[in-house]
Amino acid sequence: MTTSPRRYHITTFGCQMNKADSERMAGILESLDYQQSDNPETADLVLYNTCTIRDNAEQKVYSYLGRQAKRKQTNPNVTLIVAGCVAQQEGEALLRRVPELDMVMGPQHANRLGDLLEQVLAGNQVVATEPIHIIEDITKPRRDSKVTAWVNVIYGCNERCTYCVVPNVRGTEQSRTPEAIRAEIEDLARQGYKEITLLGQNIDAYGRDLPGTTPEGRHKHTLTDLLYYVHDVPGIDRIRFATSHPRYFTERLIRACQELPKVCEHFHIPFQSGDNEVLKAMSRGYTHEKYRRIINTIRQYMPDAAISADAIVGFPGETEEQFQNTLKLVEDIGFDQLNTAAYSPRPGTPAAQWDNQLSEEVKSDRLQRLNHLVAQKAADRSQRYLDRVEDVLVEDRNPKNPHQVMGRTRGNRLTFFEGDIDRLKGQTVPVKIAEVRAFSLTGTALSLVESR
Ligand code: SAH
Ligand code: SF4
Ligand code: F3S
Repeated sequence: MTTSPRRYHITTFGCQMNKADSERMAGILESLDYQQSDNPETADLVLYNTCTIRDNAEQKVYSYLGRQAKRKQTNPNVTLIVAGCVAQQEGEALLRRVPELDMVMGPQHANRLGDLLEQVLAGNQVVATEPIHIIEDITKPRRDSKVTAWVNVIYGCNERCTYCVVPNVRGTEQSRTPEAIRAEIEDLARQGYKEITLLGQNIDAYGRDLPGTTPEGRHKHTLTDLLYYVHDVPGIDRIRFATSHPRYFTERLIRACQELPKVCEHFHIPFQSGDNEVLKAMSRGYTHEKYRRIINTIRQYMPDAAISADAIVGFPGETEEQFQNTLKLVEDIGFDQLNTAAYSPRPGTPAAQWDNQLSEEVKSDRLQRLNHLVAQKAADRSQRYLDRVEDVLVEDRNPKNPHQVMGRTRGNRLTFFEGDIDRLKGQTVPVKIAEVRAFSLTGTALSLVESR
């Protein structure tokens, strides 16, 4: 009897960590001869890699799951898996809520998908949410891009920001060794990748759990040291990293970014609030003055550096005046991009217990006002690109215009220009910018202009 290969479908919610985990889980499934499918309605195995950072992210998962649970009632051969942060947060409770589920697995177990799946196929309902030491992955991830790749450098987070579920669901910090990281990057280069993004929830914490100190008494393996260590991997043209924490961000790191030509001049440093009282209530460990000093120092070394961040409005007890301080910070700094969110109380976090919660109306009003300012400032920041020549690393075809390709500037601005994707994919092309919008650019490739 011949059987057709089983097809799997993964939908990923949430941050870059989840995207990286999904790519590794897809790699594991393909090593087990599953074939990728875009259609969750016909796949034999459906995996939702979930996010619980805000309530709306979590609710989305339940609506997707409801549909699959129904499908499974008529088609019991479907394997249904919830992975990621909702899985970790809810654990067994998820099985009670959706009894059709075959497996609930937390993010620390992503690399164990193969073993866990064996237990499922043996007829068990599996819950894998206990904290473990993350094992190095030996399977090759199935990466969505052929040009840019994520590289985890530190898992987990030891901070205790009072609004945030991440430490609960991602566990304590665990740094990979510089050797393992470099080996992965070398492998990516051999496969033709051109850009890597080093990932950590608090990437400045990299190495503080690894042994060794320098004669000056600092940790031997810091993010800065890691950048020097991986910088010369041949074939890799660009290096990025995220997410930076203002509490631990150092001038030494800024100097390294300036000194190392492959490290892109883009910094993603969430500030969350522009008000010192609110920052304190959030337990962020810095003031808005310190945040401003960091950005000033970056701009002293690299005047053109792109700066992006995350911010939360409507944190418990935030007054109109305190919110104004956030607006003022955004006005003063001029971010290239800012991810904004209304505060969402999360189970198991301190701030969710406080009795000074704000109304949804106040939160959404502040969110709108902030977003308005963000778009204005981003459009202003885009202006500086007009008529300039920017190096664009081509990633793909413009999905909205097949005659155009798209890529990113070193500052991470999405850029479109006319060209042939088959010839340009993975190339860095000088592009003269002719049109600027708040969050993207359009231009003409100079090398193409010259060859006419
Ligand atoms: N590690 C990163 C952020 C991780 S979560 C850091 O320290 O900045 C990504 C973003 O989601 C956060 O920066 C924050 O802006 C937002 N966020 C986290 N918890 C939230 C909550 N309870 N409500 C609203 N936004 C939240
Ligand atoms: Fe959450 Fe704070 Fe850790 Fe970022 S640093 S993941 S906001 S606890
Ligand atoms: Fe969401 Fe988990 Fe990332 S909660 S933001 S997917 S770490």
